[in-house]
Amino acid sequence: MTAVTEGRGEVPIGHRRTHRTQHDLRVDVPHSGPEQPTAPERPGIIDSHKHPLTPVWYLGLPKFIPAESSDDAPVHGLSGVSATLLTPLYGRAHATDLLPGTAFRDPIAARLLAQTGYRPPEVLTDRGNAVGSVHRAIALDAITTAFAARCPQGVVLSAGIGLDTRAQRLREHTPASLTWLGADLPEVIQLRRALLPEDPVTLFAASVTEPGWYDALTTETSDRPVLVIAEGLLMYFEPDGLRFFLDSCRTAFGPGAELAGDYFHPRLALSDRHPIVRATGARFRSGAANGHRLAATAPGWHLVAEHPVMERISPLHRAAAGIFRLITLGSRPYAVAHLKAGALV
Ligand SMILES: C[S@@+](CC[C@H](N)C(=O)[O-])C[C@H]1O[C@@H](n2cnc3c(N)ncnc32)[C@H](O)[C@@H]1O
Repeated sequence: MTAVTEGRGEVPIGHRRTHRTQHDLRVDVPHSGPEQPTAPERPGIIDSHKHPLTPVWYLGLPKFIPAESSDDAPVHGLSGVSATLLTPLYGRAHATDLLPGTAFRDPIAARLLAQTGYRPPEVLTDRGNAVGSVHRAIALDAITTAFAARCPQGVVLSAGIGLDTRAQRLREHTPASLTWLGADLPEVIQLRRALLPEDPVTLFAASVTEPGWYDALTTETSDRPVLVIAEGLLMYFEPDGLRFFLDSCRTAFGPGAELAGDYFHPRLALSDRHPIVRATGARFRSGAANGHRLAATAPGWHLVAEHPVMERISPLHRAAAGIFRLITLGSRPYAVAHLKAGALV
């Protein structure tokens, strides 16, 4: 059974952890024998007897959210915004089933997901969110691969990296000279180090909305082209935090720095109706009407390209996005934006 060992005691999945220090977190990796834990549930086929589903209406579409609640804390020990990493991890872990027609595969994600000991109520397991996470990852993988081809000595920094394994996933498609960095909140970095001891990513425990967050990593980035990936991150920042983050990336990595990240339109971001709010308690705090507006949040940034995501999930999502564009006179509900920093004039 997958278990996190703390100090002298083993804590089975689903049981409360009471004490945790930086040094005593160890995760036992499941072996591949027949007695091993079953794979995580496939999206859309969560056992509705164990986890009754309740409908939540979002963007005119029903999403079915497991309604189970439990007093036990899961083994990953995350809460609030850090627990949001479980939802995209769930999507990537199920990508083979969800999108068999694409080349996207993330074999490490399924193992990582199982090791977190996640509980369905804290993860959005519906098909829309799972497929959307994978389409977002596909868009950002393509941006990363193109950057690596242009800048083989460059640096890819994933801000709010969570348990994403882009470096491992794109190993065959990017030059070995590329440097991979990741930043996230301390509790996430601690979990990631425990679950991924062979990580090719150099990690930094920091909040990227706090002054000085990049001080420790500029030795790795100086005079090199940098691509910042902000995947599932920007919407959690207050408007001031979003501005600070964009400002600090341009200050730290200079003109020419690139940033790719997903954003919601403010009507959705600020509605408090996204199911992740209910699942984790984390709230969206900012949005942008389009990629140009996102770039204009801080001086010196401009939009290079915008990539639709919601439209790719299903015909129903494409229709809902189309209606949204009609109502807002052209804005997308959700997209990935690719920005570039210029010199300040
Ligand atoms: C939705 S998850 C996405 C994780 C990962 N990028 C992925 O796509 O799998 C959001 C991540 O952003 C991190 N995060 C949120 N606010 C942050 C901050 N101020 N500084 C650093 N990381 C932050 C969370 O801890 C979490 O890992």
